[in-house]
Amino acid sequence: MESIYGNARPELEAVMQTLLNTVTQIRIDMAESQGTDPVEHILGRIKSEESMREKCRRKDLPETPESALSEIHDAIGIRIVCTFIDDIYTIRDRLTALPFIRLIEEKDYIRQVKPNGYRSLHLILQVEDKHYAEIQLRTISMDTWAAMEHHLKYKKDLNRNTDLIVRELKRCADELASTDESIQTLRDMIREL
Ligand code: GTP
Ligand code: MG
Repeated sequence: MESIYGNARPELEAVMQTLLNTVTQIRIDMAESQGTDPVEHILGRIKSEESMREKCRRKDLPETPESALSEIHDAIGIRIVCTFIDDIYTIRDRLTALPFIRLIEEKDYIRQVKPNGYRSLHLILQVEDKHYAEIQLRTISMDTWAAMEHHLKYKKDLNRNTDLIVRELKRCADELASTDESIQTLRDMIREL
C-alpha cells in the first residue's frame, strides 16, 4: 500500500529536524541568558501510518496525502518538556516570533484545564508556508500526569468505580499543578534575591 504521506516523508523529516534544531538554539540562548537550560527533554515524531489513517477515518476525510498533510495538522509532533511554567511561554514567544514560522492555532490547556485535569500548551505551527506541526509544551509534572493517565486509559478493567477513578485522576493533576505553581513562586523569589 502507498504511504499516506505520498512522497512527502523526507520533507516531513526535514521540517521536523528544522524545528528540533530551532528549539535547541532557543534552548542554548535561554540557558546563556538565564543560567539554566529551560528544557528537561524534547521528543519529535512523525505520526505513524496507522494512526494517521485512523485519524482520517475519524474525521471523515479520505485517506490521502492531501488530508494527512493539509487537513490534519499533526503529522509532525514535537513535545517540549520544561522544568518551569514560565519557560513554556518564553519558548512559545520565541518560536512564534521567527519569520519562517506562523502560529495557526493555540490551545492553552494550562489556563483552560481540560475537565479530566490534562494540562499542556498546544500550538499548531505552519513552517515555511507549507508543512504543519503540533507543538506540545508542558512541565515535568504535566508530562508525568499525561503519561500515567495515558497508561490507565488503556486498561480495560476500569468499568467499576469509574467516577471515583476520574475524580482521583483529576485530584492528582491538580496537586501536581499546585506543586508547579509553588516551584514557580520559589523561582521568582530566588530571582529577586
Ligand atoms: P484530535 O482530533 O485528536 O487532534 O483532537 P484535538 O485537536 O481536540 O486534540 P488536542 O489538541 O486536544 O490534543 C491532541 C494531543 O494532545 C493528543 O494526541 C495527546 O497527545 C494530547 N492530549 C490531549 N488531551 C489529552 C488527555 O486528556 N490525556 C493525555 N494523556 N493526552 C492528551
Ligand atoms: Mg489536534
